[in-house]
Amino acid sequence: MKIALVGGTGDIGTGFAVRWAENHEIIIGSRMADRAVEGAKAVLQILGQNGNVWGTDNGSAIAASDVTVLCVPYEHLTSVTGDLKAFYGTQVVISPVVPMNYNGKFFQYCPPAEGSAALRVKSMLPDGMRIVSAFHTICAAALQAKDRELKADTLLCGDDAAALELVAGLATEIKSLRALRIGPLAASSLVESLTPMLLNAARKNKIKDAGVRIVSERETI
Ligand SMILES: NC(=O)c1ccc[n+]([C@@H]2O[C@H](COP(=O)([O-])OP(=O)(O)OC[C@H]3O[C@@H](n4cnc5c(N)ncnc54)[C@H](OP(=O)(O)O)[C@@H]3O)[C@@H](O)[C@H]2O)c1
Repeated sequence: MKIALVGGTGDIGTGFAVRWAENHEIIIGSRMADRAVEGAKAVLQILGQNGNVWGTDNGSAIAASDVTVLCVPYEHLTSVTGDLKAFYGTQVVISPVVPMNYNGKFFQYCPPAEGSAALRVKSMLPDGMRIVSAFHTICAAALQAKDRELKADTLLCGDDAAALELVAGLATEIKSLRALRIGPLAASSLVESLTPMLLNAARKNKIKDAGVRIVSERETI
């Protein structure tokens, strides 16, 4: 597949590129095409020059893709998504975006009026676009460490069964990561809000590269 990473020059975009470049064509997007080209070079360096990775401006990246991942901080989600609406067609759109802030004591979830970042994305994109909310609790540093086996789960929300299947497949291409379905896109706030909780747990208990895993006390699920 052709996977566009909007804001792919940043932390989590680099992580996705590192993990998916072996099997897919990765298009790093940026507000500045030359920054995206540099980002692609940096990913290829991590991969020892093995991988299909290139860079361009965010709009061209989206237009060329089968799957678009929104790798920008929540504060810029509205401008990036609204400005680039015309570049979308039939892509599956993945949102790992978490609206949160630090109030001086702890990280807290700050959803928009729509209820979650994913629902905000849905409200801004053309009708009928398939959006899957995923990867909110996956640590970018762990993704960038390309050979590291992840112990975590990624929790998926979405309304389209085929799109959920596609994203679950991409997730399981990341070594040992398990994809669990949580509910429709309307349930995304439940998953997004785990990230500030996780950051508080990591910070207060000195846990590096923290993740979330659902366990069964009865048997492995
Ligand atoms: N980092 C993590 O561990 C992690 C984990 C799970 C989920 N997430 C989510 O993933 C998203 C990206 O996180 P990140 O840590 O990768 O972010 P980041 O590194 O801080 O930023 C990603 C990219 O956003 C672009 N950007 C910055 N300011 C912008 C603006 N004003 N307008 C448009 N684009 C702008 C930049 O790309 P250009 O300058 O090249 O345009 C930047 O490289 C966030 O929503 C976050 O909640 C992150």
